[in-house]
Amino acid sequence: MRLTPIFLLSATDVSHFPSPAKTYDAPEIAFLGRSNVGKSSLINALLGSKQAHTSSTPGRTRAINFFALHEGQPGRLKPRPALIFADLPGYGYAKISKQISQEWSKFIEPYLRERSNLALCLALVDVNVPTQESDRQMIAYLRETDRNFVVVATKSDKLSGNQLHKAIQTLREAYPEAKIVPYSAKSGKGRDELWREIRQSAEPRAIEA
Ligand code: GTP
Ligand code: MG
Repeated sequence: MRLTPIFLLSATDVSHFPSPAKTYDAPEIAFLGRSNVGKSSLINALLGSKQAHTSSTPGRTRAINFFALHEGQPGRLKPRPALIFADLPGYGYAKISKQISQEWSKFIEPYLRERSNLALCLALVDVNVPTQESDRQMIAYLRETDRNFVVVATKSDKLSGNQLHKAIQTLREAYPEAKIVPYSAKSGKGRDELWREIRQSAEPRAIEA
């Protein structure tokens, strides 16, 4: 099924987040990770478009950018989005870490704590770099807040088969209970599996007895 992405807004404050009424309470997928890890590139690869701005300069995305994904033919899109994608600012880049930590407490943390329609967090980690303290904190926070999340091991194209195997093993040891998906925006590896995860998370939840 084809989804047409429509850019909704760029939020730099909690008060800017699109209200559930505006998005018909559609399930939302958040893209989280350090600056330059490949969040915007992943969004573009999933959508097959250039909606999200990518850059080789770390820290380019400085707001939460919301995109609504609509089913239907061009010009006749269904009003209720099938999904919302939220591209979050990166954390943990040394040069701007102070600014980023302000943003973290100002609105990323409230976003993760309070966003009621958040169905899945894709927590991106660069599979080429050793486990980072900021990533550990991020993933610990997702656990604490009981968020549904998948760890996406990005830029896997930079490693050979054997190197990648070892790097994924290291990630499994660092995050033992997490689902880990090797991914490359260059080759498309992992894309279908991530779409499966996204679809599954967006299905109506079974009512708990
Ligand atoms: P911020 O918005 O700054 O937090 O960064 P981001 O996480 O959105 O990263 P972005 O998608 O802008 O990508 C950063 C750089 O990494 C760009 O130069 C991309 O081309 C490159 N990149 C992203 N994904 C991959 C990948 O899977 N493989 C390789 N080799 N490069 C990638
Ligand atoms: Mg970005």
